[in-house]
Amino acid sequence: MAGPRSEALFERGRKVLVEGVSSASRGPAAFGTTPRYMSHGQGARLYDVDGRAYIDWMMAFGALPLGHAHPKIAEVLAREGARGSHFATALEVEVEVAEMLVNLLPHVDKVRFANTGTEAAMGAFRLARGHTGRRKIIKFEGHYHGWWDAVLLNTNPYPPTLLGHPNDPIRIPDSSGIPEEAWKDTIVVRWNDVEALECAMALHGRDAACVVTEGVMANMGVIPPKPGYLNRMQELSRQYGALFYLDETVTGFRLAAGGCAELYGLSPDIVTYGKALGGGLPMAMIGGRDEIMAGLEWGKVLHFGTHNAGRLALHVTKVMLEEMLADDQAGFRRIKNLGKAMADEIRKVAKHSNRHAVICQGVNSMFQIFFTEVEEIADYRDFCRHVDRVKFRDFAVRLMDKGIYMNPSATLHSLSSIVHTEDDIALTAQAIAEVLEEMP
Ligand SMILES: Cc1ncc(COP(=O)(O)O)c(C=O)c1O
Repeated sequence: MAGPRSEALFERGRKVLVEGVSSASRGPAAFGTTPRYMSHGQGARLYDVDGRAYIDWMMAFGALPLGHAHPKIAEVLAREGARGSHFATALEVEVEVAEMLVNLLPHVDKVRFANTGTEAAMGAFRLARGHTGRRKIIKFEGHYHGWWDAVLLNTNPYPPTLLGHPNDPIRIPDSSGIPEEAWKDTIVVRWNDVEALECAMALHGRDAACVVTEGVMANMGVIPPKPGYLNRMQELSRQYGALFYLDETVTGFRLAAGGCAELYGLSPDIVTYGKALGGGLPMAMIGGRDEIMAGLEWGKVLHFGTHNAGRLALHVTKVMLEEMLADDQAGFRRIKNLGKAMADEIRKVAKHSNRHAVICQGVNSMFQIFFTEVEEIADYRDFCRHVDRVKFRDFAVRLMDKGIYMNPSATLHSLSSIVHTEDDIALTAQAIAEVLEEMP
């Protein structure tokens, strides 16, 4: 249960803020109850206004690979903040960070900075359409690319009876207020299914500006790609002259220094990054090969933004990259080992629970717990059919009462940061075991 100060803030907040918060994923829609209002963070801990501490496995939806209030980030913010917050001019640090990124990512010759994953994706889709002169976008069931009208389709788990035939998914916009014209050129395909993709490409490939995918499905828990699947997707995209667009908003600077592209040996035509890139500040980017990125020059394909390449965010991005890449990428090794260790511990606890059927799926620093009777969740349809989301929310809220913070939505995931410890893993495993014992 939220403490008295959170309760009081919620009372006040809901009078002046929609749902008392600024995103449905932070309020009663996600928690089913009063959200906990946080006051500060330090290392792997979040502290709420009632003075309770939580081991944070949400890490601002993955934005904090260095954890909370990392001393170097606090220092650079104090130093650079005193020199001015935002200029909206060309900056030295902008060039420096772009150089670091281009050196790190073999598939990226040039970058363009934005603020959020959604904005970067909007720019990337427009660029893909501008570059190819084509209109169609091929996207996958259960994949989220931000809240832009054209791609906000089939990103929520719906009852299996609404999904239609797997060869021809029924397109379901996830919000009111989205006109049909916005998504008439968006084709939705089943993910992790080569045949479904081959059929879709045969039908639409020649009109497709891009095929867009998350490298690991990270908005339906954590669902890894089947071996070779993404490589085949890249091949098919090239074969039909569509751009292969890898959305690394979640996986970039997370699963490896080079994200899913590195992990699965891909060379996407366009990529977007966000979340971890900014180390906690709003920072996102579009990247790609010269001849594609050239489409943005002189506003041929327009991409603007008052807050693009914010100097404070760029300074923090630079610190994040330096810290994670130091000592031959030790930071990336650390978050990977910690994430895998946490997932393994959860699996052990789950195995010993004779009260609940639970599995844990993960890739490197990302993992998610599913309440399900099946052994594996391999795609969106499995998720819709077999994952008990109500039970997961109950589980996550109970965990909060024991000082462990995981996002209460089964469609999201947990993440390690460099400041988590073996002790945090042991404490979390213990709390999970207790909750599984207590839960009805
Ligand atoms: C794969 C993916 N792309 C894009 C976005 C949108 O990013 P943002 O929330 O920064 O707009 C998200 C957000 O969760 C995401 O998971």
